[in-house]
Amino acid sequence: MNDTFLKACRGEQTDYTPIWIMRQAGRYLPEYQAVRGKTTFLELCKNPELAAEVTLQPVDIFGMDAAILFSDILIPMEAMGLKLEFHEGRGPVFPTPIRDRRGVDNLIIPDPDESMDFVMETIRILRRELKVPLIGFSGAPFTLATYLIEGGSSKVFFETKKMMYQEPDLYHALLHKLTRCTSLYLQAQARAGAQALQIFDSWAGVLAPCDYDEFALPYVRGIINDLRDITDVPIIYFANNGATLLDLTTTVGADVLGLDWRINIREAVGRVGNHAIQGNLDPCALLLPKHDLEMRIARLLFGASEALGYIFNLGHGILPQIPPDKVKIVVDAVHELSAA
Ligand code: CP3
Repeated sequence: MNDTFLKACRGEQTDYTPIWIMRQAGRYLPEYQAVRGKTTFLELCKNPELAAEVTLQPVDIFGMDAAILFSDILIPMEAMGLKLEFHEGRGPVFPTPIRDRRGVDNLIIPDPDESMDFVMETIRILRRELKVPLIGFSGAPFTLATYLIEGGSSKVFFETKKMMYQEPDLYHALLHKLTRCTSLYLQAQARAGAQALQIFDSWAGVLAPCDYDEFALPYVRGIINDLRDITDVPIIYFANNGATLLDLTTTVGADVLGLDWRINIREAVGRVGNHAIQGNLDPCALLLPKHDLEMRIARLLFGASEALGYIFNLGHGILPQIPPDKVKIVVDAVHELSAA
């Protein structure tokens, strides 16, 4: 078993820098498209054999040092009783957004081992097949709330902030329920065999620091506290667009902080104290010619050389337009340059 990734998460010495890529199982891969073409995205997430198959694809093809469970952060929202749809080209849609007390009261706190057994079964299959660690994941409560309140993706998050500012009790009631659901869900993933857990806070960066501190951070901290009681798997917290929040995210209790590309990695290392870091190549940098891409990678490795632990990744998910051979260049360059 290749445990380089887990060692880096814990800040232990490694022979080289481990790498995985957010959204590494996805549409940029023809092998994924072939499986996805036969079914819908949600059905793929709910079919343990197929979900395991697409999880393994990038690891087998490129040799990443960790696998991430194939699923979606919105899967537990269905288990909470909501209708969820994925529309081609538009992303996730909740046809009945949550805007009032009745909507919040109607949400159930699911038993993840029952209503999301397909996730746990995918994890169990993967643990038998994988020779690298398996990362489980969830959305952070704030990020999940934005999808429920807006009814899908958003640009200004008007409805979310309206609820935060005008009906804070309702907002906090919703966040409490999302936190409880997420906490149980991640605990179940750890019990099923996930060897690290990443919490995606994709929209944290749209909040002013004071609002992040009041309306988002305490809920993530609660989830991590609960996890520490039952498991010692490393916990990665990724606040996208979070450079302005870094002083706050260092207090969330994670082992590893994910970084998007908008922050200089050396500056981040100086600010994260006792944390390993993960990131932060601009996903579009994979469009660079090979030599320039390798130079970028060398600069990141050098910039992170003083980090407690470093896991190479992109600063956000890989884009569907990226040619797969660029991923091979990145994985090989990270391994070769960091071992040298
Ligand atoms: O390889 C992996 O990283 C594991 C799988 C994974 C998916 N979604 C698969 C997916 C993970 C970790 C996620 C997390 C996720 N989902 C996040 C957090 C990460 C981030 O990008 O900020 C968010 C915000 C979502 C919600 C979501 N799911 C959106 C906004 C979309 C539509 C946009 C898009 O990329 O299409 C999805 C769909 C989705 N999730 C796809 C995949 C492979 C594409 C679906 C398809 O095959 O048609």
